[in-house]
Amino acid sequence: MNKIKVLIADDEPMLQEIYSMILEAEFNCEFVTAANGNEAIEAIKTRGPFDLILSDYKMPEANGGTVYLFNKAHQNTPFILFSGGFLQDFAEFSDFYQVNAHNAFLGKPFNEDDLIAHVKKIFPPSGESLEKDQEKYIKVNLRHYIQYTSSAAEVYIKLAQDKFTKIIDTNNADAPEKDLLLHYLDKGLETIYVDKRYFTSLMKDAFAHLQEKLLESKKKEGIIEFGGLPFKVCFEGLNEIGIPDFHIQYTNDMINETVNEIFKNEEAKERFRSYCSMQGFAIGHSLVTMYIAASICHESGLNFHHSMKKICTAAFFHDFPLFETDASEDWLPIEKAKHPDHLFNHPTIAASFVPKTSELFEDTARIILEHHERPGGNGYPKKLNSFSIAPLSCLFILSEEITFNLIRNDFDFERLRDFLLNIKEEYSLGNFGKFFKACETIFELNT
Ligand SMILES: [Fe+2]
Ligand SMILES: [Fe+2]
Repeated sequence: MNKIKVLIADDEPMLQEIYSMILEAEFNCEFVTAANGNEAIEAIKTRGPFDLILSDYKMPEANGGTVYLFNKAHQNTPFILFSGGFLQDFAEFSDFYQVNAHNAFLGKPFNEDDLIAHVKKIFPPSGESLEKDQEKYIKVNLRHYIQYTSSAAEVYIKLAQDKFTKIIDTNNADAPEKDLLLHYLDKGLETIYVDKRYFTSLMKDAFAHLQEKLLESKKKEGIIEFGGLPFKVCFEGLNEIGIPDFHIQYTNDMINETVNEIFKNEEAKERFRSYCSMQGFAIGHSLVTMYIAASICHESGLNFHHSMKKICTAAFFHDFPLFETDASEDWLPIEKAKHPDHLFNHPTIAASFVPKTSELFEDTARIILEHHERPGGNGYPKKLNSFSIAPLSCLFILSEEITFNLIRNDFDFERLRDFLLNIKEEYSLGNFGKFFKACETIFELNT
């Protein structure tokens, strides 16, 4: 079988290497790489035709959307898009699955099995699709291997066709022999072969290394204290999407008041302290939801103090039960979650945690109970719709959807606007209507 000709467009060299390593483990490929969208378009013009394009969304000069539109208008090669966002975050991909049935979207972080499964659908394996050595080994660039492996593996070099010799064995410490590997690199060796049984652990190391690198480049978070406890908030990101400092200040006052109120109840205080001690996605997305809700609340003319007290209390309590599993499952549809039953039940369980003594109890509990309902009636647990979900719940739901989008896309304003335009029709109905209108003003959707 001829080699599969693959174009890899990604500004992160390590990801280019990871993609090629994954594909080489299962397919017979040749690669062309591009570090930005313009280079990718140039490659399609001059080095094609390709059998497959892998492209990141966020790249300098021209993004993955531009590459996709160019490819669609020319060779319409199967296109696999990678992004930290969801496909609905990007307006230019609205016809993605219609223009080529082999197009696929992989949300980052993706895993190697998902990529291999997609490519197998396009190029079903045949008996002779792999060269002999690919059945047993994966070919890896030595420099990259040294950079990101952190476990031991059996490493080989190729002496001649079908002839390999082991240069490194596994060890009890399960650590890579970096000195020895560096020695081979000094001698000019560029490619090594790793026993395929170590593929999964090598990928795990590579993804962990990549994750660390990407986190370093994230927008800076500031630290703020509420009730004597430290919280991390990305104020820089909030400013960049148009939330002014005075809104942030108003919201901080409301959050402080809410925390002091929660502390009056001993049981709630304990639960809250343990929740806050685990910084990260759970508390992070709760806080951003409050700042977004405050802006929408202000713009839509609701009684700020009264409404925000309920919203802030709900935001602190709404995902408490997800701590037992994985709070970041919160933005997944039920069928994609690892713990679907737990995800399905968390709004009901969380609502029961609100102190019953609170004068805000009923409204707050209702927001929590309804925070995963959706305007089209496809949410959970009750499949309510834009007319049956309570107005304050609608404010919360829209604010949390915006928050998820911001976190997925590192507070990228353009992505947020694309996302809001994509959901506009659905979120302009019923009790969501006036809040979506407020978003149109805040996020300048009509300009
Ligand atoms: Fe949540
Ligand atoms: Fe939730």
